[in-house]
Amino acid sequence: MLAGKRALVTGAAGGLGRAITAALLAQGATVVMTDLVVAEAFEPDRRALGEGAGYVHADLANAKDIDALMAAAGPLDILVNNAVTRHFSLVETLHPSDWDADIAVNLTACFHTIRHALPGMKQRGWGRIINVSSIYGLVGGTGRAGYVTTKHALIGLTKAVALECAETPITCNALCPGSTLTPAIADRIEAQVKRGPDPREVVLDKFWAERQPTRRFIEPEKVAALAAFLCTPAGDDITGAALPMDGAWSAM
Ligand SMILES: NC(=O)c1ccc[n+]([C@@H]2O[C@H](COP(=O)([O-])OP(=O)(O)OC[C@H]3O[C@@H](n4cnc5c(N)ncnc54)[C@H](O)[C@@H]3O)[C@@H](O)[C@H]2O)c1
Repeated sequence: MLAGKRALVTGAAGGLGRAITAALLAQGATVVMTDLVVAEAFEPDRRALGEGAGYVHADLANAKDIDALMAAAGPLDILVNNAVTRHFSLVETLHPSDWDADIAVNLTACFHTIRHALPGMKQRGWGRIINVSSIYGLVGGTGRAGYVTTKHALIGLTKAVALECAETPITCNALCPGSTLTPAIADRIEAQVKRGPDPREVVLDKFWAERQPTRRFIEPEKVAALAAFLCTPAGDDITGAALPMDGAWSAM
C-alpha cells in the first residue's frame, strides 16, 4: 500500500516510534528512523527491522541537528513527529531547563521537521504529517505542565498546518493516545511498585482511577495501525483532527 513512499519517524528507537516504524514498513514504505542513540549502537536493531529501515542520529533539541537530519532523510512523503521528553514536577518545582527541553523537543522540533518536509510534499503532490500528541493534548493533568502544554500546542500546530495545506493532497493530524504500554510507562509503574508501600494491584488501581475508564493499556501496535491507516486513501479527507485512542478517557 505504501510502496515507494518515504517516511521519517522521530523518537523511533523504542516504544511507539518503533511500533509506527514497523507498521509503515509492513505497508511497504521506506522509513528513516531517528533518535538519540548513536548509529553504531542502533545498527543491530535497524538490521532486524529489515531492508526498508534506515537510521540517522539527531538531537531534536538542537536546530542544527534537525537541519542535518532533514538533509540526510531526503524528500519525505510521511512525517511522524513522535519523539518526546517528559519531566514530572509541579509547576513551582519544574526546573526551567526541563521546561525548555519539553518545548524544544515536543513542539519546536515538530515545527522544524514540518517546515522542512512541506515543500517536497507539495512538489510531489502527496503528504501525510502525523504529530503524536496525547490525551494530555486534550485534557489537563497535574505534575506535568511541560508535557500538557506542549501536547496541547502540538494540536494547535496540527490545525494550523492542516488549514494551510487544505487545498493540497497533504494531510496533518494529531494522534491522542491514552496510557499505552511502552517501556517508558512500564518502567514508571515498576518504579512506583518498587518504591512501595502499595502492592502492584493497588498501584494499578490508583493509576486507572484517574485515567482511561477501560482500565487497560492501549497496545502500541494499535496506535501504529491508526497512523498507518491515515496514510491510506481512506485518510485523504481526515485532516486537522486530534484523534483520541484513549479508552474513553476524553469522554469523561
Ligand atoms: N506511552 C504512552 O502512554 C503515551 C500516551 C500518549 C502519548 N504518547 C506519545 O507517544 C510518543 C512516544 O511515546 P513513548 O511512550 O513511546 O515514549 P519513549 O520515551 O519510549 O520514546 C520517546 C523517544 O524520544 C526520544 N527522544 C527524547 N528526546 C529526544 C531528543 N532530544 N532528540 C531525539 N530523540 C529524542 C527518546 O530517546 C525516545 O526513544 C510521545 O510523543 C508520547 O508523548 C505516549
